[in-house]
Amino acid sequence: MKESILTAAKDLVNSSYAIALTGAGISTESGVPDFRGPNGIWTKDPEAERRAYRTFDKFLSNPKDYWEERLTQPALLGDIQKLMPNAGHYALAELEKMGILKCIITQNVDNLHAKAGTNNVLEYHGNAFKLRCVSCNARYNSDEYDLAKLKEEGKLPPLCVNCGGLIKPDIVHFKEPIPSDIAHQSLEEARKCDLMLICGTSAVVYPFAQLPRTAKLKIIEKETRIDSGLPLVEDVRVTVIIEVNAEATPLTDEQISDYLIQGKTGEVLPQIVEEVKKLRK
Ligand code: APR
Repeated sequence: MKESILTAAKDLVNSSYAIALTGAGISTESGVPDFRGPNGIWTKDPEAERRAYRTFDKFLSNPKDYWEERLTQPALLGDIQKLMPNAGHYALAELEKMGILKCIITQNVDNLHAKAGTNNVLEYHGNAFKLRCVSCNARYNSDEYDLAKLKEEGKLPPLCVNCGGLIKPDIVHFKEPIPSDIAHQSLEEARKCDLMLICGTSAVVYPFAQLPRTAKLKIIEKETRIDSGLPLVEDVRVTVIIEVNAEATPLTDEQISDYLIQGKTGEVLPQIVEEVKKLRK
């Protein structure tokens, strides 16, 4: 482990455009449950996962009922508003402050990267404290709409003050398309990066799990061009793909990642930052 932590620190220092991809695993040490880990929500309640696959259809077929139910049901992740970032979130925020990490693309809706002080975060599956218009993609803080009052007055679903479109929570349900602005920016980052640090995700949910493959593809394209004598495309960079996760994932098994540092993100990431600091001295 020590050796791979040193290697990761060297790779980060040598990178010119590093980004991070994160999943529920980086927030478990803050008290947010994950989904498919040993204590994951879906692992413990497979029926809940089956129900979650029907949620977006319900929103599309009857947005009023969808909201009625949403405002009465307990939240899937529990009350995460009070939860605080852990050493893993702060380590990534520190790498951003050092100018090494350019962006975090997260699947997490818990807002903990922002709470840790990271500025450039793309919330691929939305934010639990925001609302979004499904027509114009406008985002609102949840408290910009008095949802309880709208319910009382029988005025659900809420409508967008910008375009009159339907408002839903910003979180992205299964089978719901990723908002186009976030999908586009994330693809750009995956194409631009020369290092991808993947933290705390089982990497089985698409299209997010495609991003490391998009980054990897650049390597294959470069090798193909070299072998076929085709002129190299200038901006094709070899991307180093590093996983930090409690267990191996399909990215490990398919060798999409160059190496896996198997451990807790809240323990491994701060160690990587310490080594980066030593190297930059
Ligand atoms: N440190 C490192 N790895 C961890 C830690 C930790 N502290 N805690 C859990 N893990 C690992 C788990 O072993 C698992 O491999 O993190 C991974 C979390 O995977 P998932 O639970 O599948 O979470 P994620 O990949 O983010 O899920 C993707 O699926 O359910 C949907 O929309 C939801 O955004 C979510 C998406």
